[in-house]
Amino acid sequence: MGEGRNLVGVDIGASGVKVCQVKESRRGLGLMRLGFVPLGAQAIVDGQVMDQAAVIEALQRAFSEAKIRQKECAVSVSGQSVIIRKITIPMMSDAQLGEQIQWEAEQHIPFDIKDVQVDYQVLRKRPETSQMDLLLVAAKRDQIEDYAQLARSAKLKPMVCDIDAFTVQNLFEYSRGLPADQTIALINVGASLSSLNIISNGVSAFTREIANGGNVITEEIQRQLSVPFDQAEAYKCGGTSDPDDPNRVGMVPQQVIQIIEAVSDSIAAEIQRSLDFYVATSGEAEISRIYVTGGTANLAALGTAVQRRSRVPVEAWAPTEKVVIEAREVNAALLQTRAAQLAVALGLALRKEKEARS
Ligand SMILES: Nc1ncnc2c1ncn2[C@@H]1O[C@H](COP(=O)(O)OP(=O)(O)OP(=O)(O)O)[C@@H](O)[C@H]1O
Ligand SMILES: [Mg+2]
Repeated sequence: MGEGRNLVGVDIGASGVKVCQVKESRRGLGLMRLGFVPLGAQAIVDGQVMDQAAVIEALQRAFSEAKIRQKECAVSVSGQSVIIRKITIPMMSDAQLGEQIQWEAEQHIPFDIKDVQVDYQVLRKRPETSQMDLLLVAAKRDQIEDYAQLARSAKLKPMVCDIDAFTVQNLFEYSRGLPADQTIALINVGASLSSLNIISNGVSAFTREIANGGNVITEEIQRQLSVPFDQAEAYKCGGTSDPDDPNRVGMVPQQVIQIIEAVSDSIAAEIQRSLDFYVATSGEAEISRIYVTGGTANLAALGTAVQRRSRVPVEAWAPTEKVVIEAREVNAALLQTRAAQLAVALGLALRKEKEARS
Protein backbone atom coordinates (compact mmCIF):
# COMPACT_ATOMS: atom_id res chain seq x y z
CA MET A 1 0.00 0.00 0.00
CA GLY A 2 1.34 3.40 -0.96
CA GLU A 3 1.83 6.51 1.10
CA GLY A 4 0.03 9.76 1.39
CA ARG A 5 -3.59 10.59 1.64
CA ASN A 6 -6.27 8.11 0.69
CA LEU A 7 -8.02 8.81 -2.58
CA VAL A 8 -11.79 9.17 -2.69
CA GLY A 9 -13.26 5.84 -3.83
CA VAL A 10 -15.70 6.39 -6.70
CA ASP A 11 -17.79 3.45 -7.90
CA ILE A 12 -19.82 4.26 -10.97
CA GLY A 13 -22.31 1.40 -10.95
CA ALA A 14 -25.44 0.78 -12.98
CA SER A 15 -27.69 1.34 -9.97
CA GLY A 16 -25.92 4.45 -8.79
CA VAL A 17 -22.76 6.34 -7.97
CA LYS A 18 -21.17 5.50 -4.62
CA VAL A 19 -18.41 7.60 -3.10
CA CYS A 20 -16.40 6.93 0.06
CA GLN A 21 -13.64 8.73 1.85
CA VAL A 22 -11.77 6.83 4.55
CA LYS A 23 -8.98 7.29 7.01
CA GLU A 24 -7.36 4.16 8.35
CA SER A 25 -7.54 4.33 12.10
CA ARG A 26 -6.66 2.10 15.00
CA ARG A 27 -10.32 1.28 15.52
CA GLY A 28 -10.80 0.07 11.96
CA LEU A 29 -11.60 1.60 8.63
CA GLY A 30 -12.58 5.14 9.57
CA LEU A 31 -15.36 6.39 7.33
CA MET A 32 -15.17 10.16 6.87
CA ARG A 33 -17.67 10.68 4.07
CA LEU A 34 -20.23 8.58 2.23
CA GLY A 35 -22.40 9.45 -0.73
CA PHE A 36 -24.87 7.55 -2.88
CA VAL A 37 -26.81 8.96 -5.81
CA PRO A 38 -29.06 6.55 -7.73
CA LEU A 39 -28.98 6.40 -11.52
CA GLY A 40 -31.94 5.71 -13.77
CA ALA A 41 -32.15 2.27 -15.36
CA GLN A 42 -30.92 3.47 -18.76
CA ALA A 43 -27.90 5.57 -17.70
CA ILE A 44 -25.43 2.65 -17.67
CA VAL A 45 -26.25 -0.57 -19.46
CA ASP A 46 -23.85 -3.53 -19.09
CA GLY A 47 -21.03 -1.27 -18.01
CA GLN A 48 -21.49 1.04 -21.00
CA VAL A 49 -22.36 4.62 -20.19
CA MET A 50 -25.43 5.60 -22.23
CA ASP A 51 -26.27 8.90 -20.58
CA GLN A 52 -23.08 10.79 -19.80
CA ALA A 53 -24.78 13.92 -18.53
CA ALA A 54 -26.75 11.91 -15.96
CA VAL A 55 -23.61 10.20 -14.68
CA ILE A 56 -21.64 13.47 -14.45
CA GLU A 57 -24.47 15.09 -12.56
CA ALA A 58 -24.72 12.12 -10.21
CA LEU A 59 -20.96 12.32 -9.53
CA GLN A 60 -21.18 16.01 -8.72
CA ARG A 61 -24.21 15.50 -6.52
CA ALA A 62 -22.58 12.59 -4.70
CA PHE A 63 -19.55 14.74 -3.84
CA SER A 64 -21.56 17.76 -2.82
CA GLU A 65 -24.19 15.86 -0.79
CA ALA A 66 -21.45 13.91 0.98
CA LYS A 67 -19.52 17.17 1.53
CA ILE A 68 -16.33 15.89 -0.04
CA ARG A 69 -13.92 18.62 -1.08
CA GLN A 70 -11.02 16.38 -2.08
CA LYS A 71 -10.93 15.92 -5.87
CA GLU A 72 -8.29 13.20 -6.17
CA CYS A 73 -10.10 9.92 -6.63
CA ALA A 74 -9.82 6.29 -7.68
CA VAL A 75 -12.28 4.81 -10.16
CA SER A 76 -12.72 1.29 -11.49
CA VAL A 77 -13.92 -0.48 -14.58
CA SER A 78 -15.43 -3.89 -15.02
CA GLY A 79 -17.50 -5.72 -17.51
CA GLN A 80 -16.79 -7.61 -20.65
CA SER A 81 -14.13 -5.21 -21.85
CA VAL A 82 -11.81 -6.39 -19.12
CA ILE A 83 -9.99 -9.63 -19.78
CA ILE A 84 -8.11 -11.42 -17.04
CA ARG A 85 -6.11 -14.53 -17.79
CA LYS A 86 -3.66 -16.63 -15.90
CA ILE A 87 -0.93 -17.54 -18.38
CA THR A 88 2.26 -19.54 -18.23
CA ILE A 89 5.36 -18.19 -19.95
CA PRO A 90 9.07 -19.00 -19.97
CA MET A 91 10.97 -17.72 -16.95
CA MET A 92 12.49 -14.29 -17.57
CA SER A 93 13.75 -11.26 -15.70
CA ASP A 94 11.51 -8.35 -14.79
CA ALA A 95 13.18 -6.20 -17.42
CA GLN A 96 12.68 -8.81 -20.14
CA LEU A 97 9.10 -9.29 -19.06
CA GLY A 98 8.47 -5.56 -19.34
CA GLU A 99 9.54 -5.75 -22.98
CA GLN A 100 7.85 -9.02 -23.76
CA ILE A 101 4.49 -8.46 -22.14
CA GLN A 102 2.77 -6.76 -25.07
CA TRP A 103 3.66 -9.69 -27.30
CA GLU A 104 2.50 -12.23 -24.74
CA ALA A 105 -0.71 -10.31 -24.26
CA GLU A 106 -1.39 -10.33 -27.98
CA GLN A 107 -1.45 -14.13 -27.93
CA HIS A 108 -4.12 -14.22 -25.26
CA ILE A 109 -6.38 -11.26 -25.76
CA PRO A 110 -9.13 -11.19 -28.35
CA PHE A 111 -8.97 -7.41 -28.84
CA ASP A 112 -6.60 -5.32 -30.90
CA ILE A 113 -3.63 -4.81 -28.60
CA LYS A 114 -3.51 -1.12 -29.52
CA ASP A 115 -6.89 -0.62 -27.88
CA VAL A 116 -6.05 -2.17 -24.54
CA GLN A 117 -4.07 -1.26 -21.51
CA VAL A 118 -2.13 -4.24 -20.24
CA ASP A 119 -1.13 -4.86 -16.68
CA TYR A 120 0.27 -8.01 -15.08
CA GLN A 121 1.34 -9.63 -11.89
CA VAL A 122 3.76 -12.52 -11.46
CA LEU A 123 1.85 -15.18 -9.55
CA ARG A 124 4.44 -17.89 -9.25
CA LYS A 125 7.93 -18.70 -10.47
CA ARG A 126 8.58 -22.35 -11.19
CA PRO A 127 12.32 -22.80 -11.61
CA GLU A 128 11.91 -26.58 -11.89
CA THR A 129 10.24 -26.15 -15.28
CA SER A 130 11.77 -22.74 -16.15
CA GLN A 131 8.32 -21.27 -16.33
CA MET A 132 6.33 -18.68 -14.53
CA ASP A 133 2.63 -17.98 -14.05
CA LEU A 134 1.37 -14.51 -14.74
CA LEU A 135 -1.94 -12.87 -14.20
CA LEU A 136 -2.56 -10.81 -17.27
CA VAL A 137 -5.09 -8.01 -17.10
CA ALA A 138 -6.22 -6.10 -20.15
CA ALA A 139 -8.85 -3.41 -20.15
CA LYS A 140 -10.02 -1.61 -23.25
CA ARG A 141 -8.60 1.89 -23.19
CA ASP A 142 -11.85 3.40 -24.35
CA GLN A 143 -13.64 2.21 -21.23
CA ILE A 144 -10.87 3.39 -18.91
CA GLU A 145 -10.75 6.65 -20.78
CA ASP A 146 -14.57 6.99 -20.71
CA TYR A 147 -14.67 6.56 -16.95
CA ALA A 148 -11.70 8.85 -16.33
CA GLN A 149 -13.23 11.44 -18.63
CA LEU A 150 -16.56 11.27 -16.82
CA ALA A 151 -14.74 11.94 -13.56
CA ARG A 152 -12.84 14.85 -15.11
CA SER A 153 -16.07 16.28 -16.50
CA ALA A 154 -17.41 16.23 -12.95
CA LYS A 155 -14.35 18.33 -11.96
CA LEU A 156 -12.63 15.40 -10.26
CA LYS A 157 -9.04 14.24 -10.60
CA PRO A 158 -8.94 10.50 -11.30
CA MET A 159 -5.50 9.26 -10.21
CA VAL A 160 -6.00 5.50 -10.26
CA CYS A 161 -8.10 3.18 -12.40
CA ASP A 162 -8.63 -0.25 -10.91
CA ILE A 163 -10.74 -3.28 -11.77
CA ASP A 164 -13.83 -4.14 -9.72
CA ALA A 165 -12.78 -7.69 -8.88
CA PHE A 166 -9.37 -6.62 -7.52
CA THR A 167 -10.82 -3.73 -5.61
CA VAL A 168 -13.15 -6.10 -3.80
CA GLN A 169 -10.21 -8.42 -3.11
CA ASN A 170 -8.19 -5.54 -1.62
CA LEU A 171 -10.97 -4.69 0.75
CA PHE A 172 -11.50 -8.32 1.70
CA GLU A 173 -7.79 -8.66 2.40
CA TYR A 174 -7.91 -5.53 4.54
CA SER A 175 -10.96 -6.80 6.41
CA ARG A 176 -10.25 -10.48 6.90
CA GLY A 177 -6.86 -11.24 5.42
CA LEU A 178 -6.49 -13.83 2.66
CA PRO A 179 -6.18 -17.41 3.87
CA ALA A 180 -2.69 -18.70 3.03
CA ASP A 181 -3.63 -22.33 2.51
CA GLN A 182 -7.16 -22.26 1.14
CA THR A 183 -9.04 -21.40 -1.99
CA ILE A 184 -11.93 -19.01 -1.65
CA ALA A 185 -14.22 -17.26 -4.11
CA LEU A 186 -15.38 -13.67 -3.85
CA ILE A 187 -18.48 -12.85 -5.84
CA ASN A 188 -19.82 -9.32 -6.24
CA VAL A 189 -23.33 -9.38 -7.68
CA GLY A 190 -24.44 -5.92 -8.76
CA ALA A 191 -27.27 -4.66 -10.92
CA SER A 192 -26.12 -5.63 -14.41
CA LEU A 193 -22.73 -7.21 -13.79
CA SER A 194 -21.23 -9.73 -11.45
CA SER A 195 -17.58 -10.37 -10.85
CA LEU A 196 -16.11 -13.62 -9.68
CA ASN A 197 -12.62 -13.85 -8.24
CA ILE A 198 -11.08 -17.12 -7.07
CA ILE A 199 -8.23 -16.57 -4.66
CA SER A 200 -5.94 -19.49 -4.10
CA ASN A 201 -3.30 -19.40 -1.35
CA GLY A 202 -3.56 -15.65 -1.10
CA VAL A 203 -3.38 -14.76 -4.80
CA SER A 204 -6.03 -14.29 -7.42
CA ALA A 205 -5.99 -17.33 -9.67
CA PHE A 206 -9.06 -16.75 -11.83
CA THR A 207 -11.49 -13.98 -12.43
CA ARG A 208 -14.51 -13.68 -14.62
CA GLU A 209 -17.07 -11.02 -15.33
CA ILE A 210 -20.62 -12.26 -15.75
CA ALA A 211 -23.14 -10.08 -17.56
CA ASN A 212 -25.92 -10.80 -15.11
CA GLY A 213 -27.16 -9.33 -11.86
CA GLY A 214 -30.13 -7.98 -9.97
CA ASN A 215 -31.59 -6.09 -12.92
CA VAL A 216 -32.54 -9.39 -14.50
CA ILE A 217 -34.71 -10.15 -11.46
CA THR A 218 -36.31 -6.70 -11.57
CA GLU A 219 -36.99 -7.00 -15.30
CA GLU A 220 -38.60 -10.39 -14.86
CA ILE A 221 -40.90 -9.04 -12.12
CA GLN A 222 -41.70 -6.10 -14.39
CA ARG A 223 -42.57 -8.42 -17.26
CA GLN A 224 -44.58 -11.02 -15.36
CA LEU A 225 -46.52 -8.58 -13.19
CA SER A 226 -46.82 -5.83 -15.82
CA VAL A 227 -45.57 -3.14 -13.45
CA PRO A 228 -43.08 -0.29 -14.05
CA PHE A 229 -39.36 -0.81 -13.27
CA ASP A 230 -39.49 1.19 -10.02
CA GLN A 231 -42.42 -0.79 -8.73
CA ALA A 232 -40.73 -4.07 -9.65
CA GLU A 233 -37.57 -2.89 -7.91
CA ALA A 234 -39.59 -2.03 -4.79
CA TYR A 235 -41.22 -5.46 -4.85
CA LYS A 236 -37.83 -7.11 -5.16
CA CYS A 237 -36.35 -5.18 -2.21
CA GLY A 238 -39.73 -5.30 -0.41
CA GLY A 239 -38.77 -7.22 2.66
CA THR A 240 -35.92 -4.92 3.55
CA SER A 241 -36.93 -1.50 2.27
CA ASP A 242 -36.89 1.62 4.33
CA PRO A 243 -40.27 2.42 5.99
CA ASP A 244 -39.97 6.05 4.88
CA ASP A 245 -39.41 5.08 1.27
CA PRO A 246 -42.44 6.15 -0.79
CA ASN A 247 -41.89 3.12 -3.03
CA ARG A 248 -42.22 0.70 -0.17
CA VAL A 249 -44.74 -2.01 -0.72
CA GLY A 250 -46.80 -3.52 2.02
CA MET A 251 -47.33 -6.98 0.70
CA VAL A 252 -45.04 -8.69 -1.73
CA PRO A 253 -47.00 -10.98 -4.07
CA GLN A 254 -46.08 -14.65 -3.85
CA GLN A 255 -45.15 -14.56 -7.52
CA VAL A 256 -42.34 -12.11 -6.74
CA ILE A 257 -40.78 -14.57 -4.33
CA GLN A 258 -40.91 -17.27 -6.98
CA ILE A 259 -39.31 -15.00 -9.56
CA ILE A 260 -36.53 -14.04 -7.13
CA GLU A 261 -35.83 -17.71 -6.49
CA ALA A 262 -35.92 -18.72 -10.15
CA VAL A 263 -33.72 -15.91 -11.42
CA SER A 264 -31.30 -16.24 -8.48
CA ASP A 265 -30.94 -19.85 -9.48
CA SER A 266 -30.10 -18.91 -13.05
CA ILE A 267 -27.46 -16.46 -11.82
CA ALA A 268 -26.11 -19.21 -9.56
CA ALA A 269 -25.99 -21.57 -12.56
CA GLU A 270 -23.84 -19.10 -14.45
CA ILE A 271 -21.55 -18.69 -11.45
CA GLN A 272 -21.32 -22.47 -11.19
CA ARG A 273 -20.18 -22.80 -14.80
CA SER A 274 -17.24 -20.54 -13.99
CA LEU A 275 -16.46 -22.42 -10.79
CA ASP A 276 -16.53 -25.73 -12.69
CA PHE A 277 -14.25 -24.29 -15.33
CA TYR A 278 -11.77 -23.21 -12.69
CA VAL A 279 -11.76 -26.51 -10.86
CA ALA A 280 -11.41 -28.47 -14.12
CA THR A 281 -8.57 -26.39 -15.56
CA SER A 282 -6.52 -25.36 -12.56
CA GLY A 283 -5.98 -28.71 -10.99
CA GLU A 284 -5.84 -26.85 -7.69
CA ALA A 285 -7.56 -27.56 -4.43
CA GLU A 286 -11.30 -27.25 -4.14
CA ILE A 287 -12.97 -24.05 -3.12
CA SER A 288 -13.55 -24.04 0.61
CA ARG A 289 -15.80 -21.03 0.99
CA ILE A 290 -17.70 -18.56 -1.18
CA TYR A 291 -18.32 -14.99 -0.09
CA VAL A 292 -21.08 -13.05 -1.82
CA THR A 293 -21.44 -9.31 -1.74
CA GLY A 294 -22.96 -6.54 -3.89
CA GLY A 295 -26.52 -5.22 -3.73
CA THR A 296 -28.02 -8.45 -5.01
CA ALA A 297 -26.38 -10.39 -2.16
CA ASN A 298 -29.07 -8.77 0.01
CA LEU A 299 -31.35 -11.44 -1.40
CA ALA A 300 -30.94 -14.52 0.76
CA ALA A 301 -32.23 -16.58 -2.17
CA LEU A 302 -29.04 -15.85 -4.09
CA GLY A 303 -26.72 -17.25 -1.42
CA THR A 304 -28.99 -20.25 -1.01
CA ALA A 305 -28.95 -20.94 -4.75
CA VAL A 306 -25.16 -20.59 -5.01
CA GLN A 307 -24.68 -22.92 -2.05
CA ARG A 308 -27.13 -25.48 -3.41
CA ARG A 309 -25.40 -25.63 -6.77
CA SER A 310 -21.80 -25.43 -5.61
CA ARG A 311 -22.11 -27.47 -2.41
CA VAL A 312 -19.65 -25.01 -0.91
CA PRO A 313 -20.57 -22.98 2.20
CA VAL A 314 -21.68 -19.50 1.19
CA GLU A 315 -21.41 -16.46 3.41
CA ALA A 316 -22.93 -13.05 2.70
CA TRP A 317 -19.97 -10.75 3.31
CA ALA A 318 -20.73 -7.23 4.49
CA PRO A 319 -17.95 -5.04 3.09
CA THR A 320 -18.60 -2.55 5.86
CA GLU A 321 -17.73 -4.96 8.66
CA LYS A 322 -14.55 -3.08 9.61
CA VAL A 323 -16.01 0.37 9.05
CA VAL A 324 -16.29 2.77 11.96
CA ILE A 325 -17.96 6.11 11.44
CA GLU A 326 -15.38 8.81 12.11
CA ALA A 327 -17.22 11.96 11.12
CA ARG A 328 -20.58 13.58 11.85
CA GLU A 329 -21.17 14.05 8.14
CA VAL A 330 -21.62 10.31 7.57
CA ASN A 331 -25.24 9.29 7.22
CA ALA A 332 -25.46 6.14 9.37
CA ALA A 333 -28.80 5.05 7.88
CA LEU A 334 -27.38 5.29 4.36
CA LEU A 335 -24.38 3.23 5.44
CA GLN A 336 -26.68 0.58 6.79
CA THR A 337 -29.08 0.33 3.84
CA ARG A 338 -26.31 0.43 1.22
CA ALA A 339 -23.76 -1.68 3.12
CA ALA A 340 -23.71 -4.62 0.70
CA GLN A 341 -23.19 -2.26 -2.24
CA LEU A 342 -20.04 -0.60 -0.95
CA ALA A 343 -17.26 -3.14 -1.58
CA VAL A 344 -15.94 -1.41 -4.70
CA ALA A 345 -16.13 2.15 -3.38
CA LEU A 346 -14.51 1.19 -0.05
CA GLY A 347 -11.85 -0.90 -1.77
CA LEU A 348 -11.02 2.04 -4.03
CA ALA A 349 -10.90 4.37 -1.03
CA LEU A 350 -8.01 2.28 0.34
CA ARG A 351 -5.83 3.41 -2.56
CA LYS A 352 -3.34 6.14 -1.82
CA GLU A 353 -2.20 9.21 -3.66
CA LYS A 354 1.42 8.20 -3.95
CA GLU A 355 0.94 4.82 -5.55
CA ALA A 356 2.70 4.57 -8.85
CA ARG A 357 0.56 1.85 -10.44
CA SER A 358 -2.29 2.91 -12.64
N1 LIG B 1 -32.27 -4.79 -0.19
C1 LIG B 1 -32.11 -5.26 -1.43
N2 LIG B 1 -32.73 -6.40 -1.80
C2 LIG B 1 -32.58 -6.87 -3.04
N3 LIG B 1 -31.83 -6.31 -4.01
C3 LIG B 1 -31.21 -5.18 -3.68
C4 LIG B 1 -31.30 -4.59 -2.39
N4 LIG B 1 -30.56 -3.47 -2.37
C5 LIG B 1 -30.02 -3.36 -3.60
N5 LIG B 1 -30.41 -4.37 -4.40
C6 LIG B 1 -30.07 -4.60 -5.80
O1 LIG B 1 -28.68 -4.55 -5.95
C7 LIG B 1 -28.33 -4.03 -7.24
C8 LIG B 1 -27.37 -2.90 -7.04
O2 LIG B 1 -26.22 -3.42 -6.44
P1 LIG B 1 -24.80 -2.74 -6.62
O3 LIG B 1 -24.85 -1.36 -6.10
O4 LIG B 1 -23.82 -3.67 -6.04
O5 LIG B 1 -24.69 -2.69 -8.21
P2 LIG B 1 -24.02 -1.59 -9.14
O6 LIG B 1 -22.58 -1.49 -8.76
O7 LIG B 1 -24.79 -0.34 -9.11
O8 LIG B 1 -24.20 -2.24 -10.54
P3 LIG B 1 -23.13 -2.88 -11.56
O9 LIG B 1 -21.97 -3.35 -10.73
O10 LIG B 1 -23.88 -3.99 -12.20
O11 LIG B 1 -22.78 -1.78 -12.48
C9 LIG B 1 -29.63 -3.58 -7.88
O12 LIG B 1 -30.06 -4.56 -8.80
C10 LIG B 1 -30.58 -3.49 -6.69
O13 LIG B 1 -31.91 -3.76 -7.07
MG1 LIG C 1 -20.92 -2.70 -9.11
